Amino acid sequence: MKRHEFLRELHKVSGNRNYLEIGVNDGRSLKLSRVPTIAVDPAFKVVTEIRCDVHLVKATSDDFFARDNPLVHLKGGRHPVRNLRRGRSPLGYWRRAVLDLSFIDGMHLFEYALRDFMNIERHSDWTSVIVFDDVLPRNVDEAARDRHTGAWTGDVYKIAEILGRYRPDLLSVLVDSRPTGQLVVFGANPRNRVLRDRYDEIVAAYEVPDPQKVPEAILDRVGAVAPEVLVGAGFWRALRRARALGLGRSRGWEPLRAAVEGVVGSRL
Ligand SMILES: C[S@@+](CC[C@H](N)C(=O)[O-])C[C@H]1O[C@@H](n2cnc3c(N)ncnc32)[C@H](O)[C@@H]1O
Repeated sequence: MKRHEFLRELHKVSGNRNYLEIGVNDGRSLKLSRVPTIAVDPAFKVVTEIRCDVHLVKATSDDFFARDNPLVHLKGGRHPVRNLRRGRSPLGYWRRAVLDLSFIDGMHLFEYALRDFMNIERHSDWTSVIVFDDVLPRNVDEAARDRHTGAWTGDVYKIAEILGRYRPDLLSVLVDSRPTGQLVVFGANPRNRVLRDRYDEIVAAYEVPDPQKVPEAILDRVGAVAPEVLVGAGFWRALRRARALGLGRSRGWEPLRAAVEGVVGSRL
């Protein structure tokens, strides 16, 4: 299954009520969305027909997330109250959108993708689905930090190892989609500070000059699940139901984790 086909299926099975995309380019992934959407890219050149209510932001993702209320566009939509978190403002209570589905496909350097994840997680919860693109480079050249190939994954593949090491509370599933794989992350926790607190340490450990030493397991796609298996699994119904019921993390996450692991095995 190609990456956009996999993404199209995720839009269906996840039952997402909103969508965030980092890295738009010509709009081929953005055109899959049918729900209120925010799409961020400092140099987008959309040439495809877009069929959703979209706030298209011409900025880097870091600048976008530095805004006061970056998801204000989603708050304006008609969201069920369950899809919103309540916070305090000087005027009393206000409602904050929770991201249901996010796609990280901006700058292809691991520290950028990691920051995108950290920022997205602050606006997500345990029923959110967060997807990284380009995590399975096909060769060392494609994985270089300094781009010198046509198709380019950069070193975003490091994210799988980083989340496995620093965030074992998450469930990260490598997906064997064409051409360069995806990583689907379940169990987001906006209160978890580990990545924020250890960001400098992580970057110092993983930022190395080219050529990158891409692990054989990544090049051989060891443990990557077939996209058809993931999108065809039964747990999506439980996820949609939990979200619709507004089930809390303490009751919902462990059963969902067990259900996903039952399909894909114990992952990263
Ligand atoms: C691989 S393309 C996105 C492809 C698109 N998601 C799709 O599947 O059709 C990567 C895009 O990320 C954008 N980009 C580069 N740096 C970025 C950043 N710091 N923040 C957000 N987007 C960035 C580039 O301008 C480029 O258009």
